[in-house]
Amino acid sequence: MKIRKPPTILVVEDDAENRTAMVKILEGAGFKTLQCDNGQEALDRVLEGNIDVLVSDMRLPVMDGVELLKRAKAADQEIEVILITGFGTVETAVEAIKEGAYDFITKPVKKAYLVHSVEKAAEKQYLQRENRELRSQLSPEGTRKLVYASSEMRNIARMIEQVASSTATVLITGESGTGKEVVADAIHSASPRRNRPLVKVSCAALPETLLEAELFGYEKGAFTGANARKEGRFELANGGTLFLDEIGEISLATQVKLLRVLQDGKFDRLGGTRTIDTDVRIIAATNKDLQQEVTERRFREDLFYRLNVINIRMPALRTRKDDIQLLAMHFLKVYAGKNQKSITGFTEDAMLALTSYDWPGNVRELENAVERAVVFTTGNLVPLSVLPQNVSMFAETRHSLTFKIGTPLRELERKAIEITLQHARDDKNLAARLLGIATRTIYRHMEREGIESTPQVTEPEKDTETEAPIH
Ligand SMILES: Nc1ncnc2c1ncn2[C@@H]1O[C@H](COP(=O)(O)OP(=O)(O)OP(=O)(O)O)[C@@H](O)[C@H]1O
Ligand SMILES: [Mg+2]
Repeated sequence: MKIRKPPTILVVEDDAENRTAMVKILEGAGFKTLQCDNGQEALDRVLEGNIDVLVSDMRLPVMDGVELLKRAKAADQEIEVILITGFGTVETAVEAIKEGAYDFITKPVKKAYLVHSVEKAAEKQYLQRENRELRSQLSPEGTRKLVYASSEMRNIARMIEQVASSTATVLITGESGTGKEVVADAIHSASPRRNRPLVKVSCAALPETLLEAELFGYEKGAFTGANARKEGRFELANGGTLFLDEIGEISLATQVKLLRVLQDGKFDRLGGTRTIDTDVRIIAATNKDLQQEVTERRFREDLFYRLNVINIRMPALRTRKDDIQLLAMHFLKVYAGKNQKSITGFTEDAMLALTSYDWPGNVRELENAVERAVVFTTGNLVPLSVLPQNVSMFAETRHSLTFKIGTPLRELERKAIEITLQHARDDKNLAARLLGIATRTIYRHMEREGIESTPQVTEPEKDTETEAPIH
């Protein structure tokens, strides 16, 4: 066994005799043990931390083994769970394994098998934890840390600190890729709920009924295919935080149900008769303009106000260019580590291109560009040539535009547009972005100067095509 410190095993069993027997076996095999007789207490112990393996009976008062398994896993992804049952059916075993149980043992428990299974589970758990620690050493900042240098983001970081301690609902808005999820993570981990689960639901990924089933859970037989009771994310997040991503996508019918939970902290499982109380902190995110959705009657006004108690607006990356260099270096460190390359930075022109480009896909596009660049970099510095073409276009290519004092501005404008269009290989949109003007200004100019427009569709050859921003 590759285990250094004796692993801590929590034994959960309501039958005192069985529990003591298992504890004795495990202590005898060199494990440190803790014990309790119900699921709720077990979960509290898990949330306190430092449990490596959970050995639990399936049939427990308050919360059964599978429920405990799910909640324990939500609280600590690396914990390994072994379930024990007196009447092993294939279905329950399959369900347990599907929910992430390490093993499933039927009673009577054989001493040797129990020890073997716990040893294996502890080893797996140890390796996982070690792996994660190694990974975080490779990127000391950690991939999910909020990286920033701009005053805009400093204000946001301050806001995160301030709102973390409350339970107020937070609505995070902003363009795609600006870091809304990173902010949600940061709020949860700075909050008193940090040791409780952070459960995430993407509201866009699921059709209406599935989304409701996912959020509120269902009773057996609530609809065709509901073969067993299922807990919803509201239940799984109890005591913790629920992150509702892409909230702008939910249907009006689901909005009504959501409003009820937000108002009274109560909901029903689909097909259920019992109202369930929940203590969940909600963080929602959207890249839509919810106010506009309200005006257009696609989003309920009352729900909007419930969600919008605190609004964090993520600025687009192009409006906080001070962050680009630090973010680029951060992603460089992360991906150089992952690819085992010793790249230390960017060449000057590459960095200039990164800071000049306007990043329509925001931080995500920057991260992807750096990841790709790392793969193609052979030396110590990332050169301009490995950046995506639409980014490298923004590098400073010097054109000496000498002109006589007294040259009409219009003439200079014409020259600048012509040179930029050549540089952008006749891509009008790109040229307009490089010049900081609207595309229609370019067309107007061409019309005025009598320049024929090259049809864009037939024009670009393979190697001159600019890449679409990565979303
Ligand atoms: N300030 C930041 N520091 C470090 N990484 C960041 C930062 N902002 C964004 N990222 C990274 O950029 C990527 C996109 O961020 P995230 O998923 O949070 O964006 P989003 O706003 O939720 O986008 P979408 O609306 O498309 O879901 C992630 O990989 C994230 O880790
Ligand atoms: Mg997101």
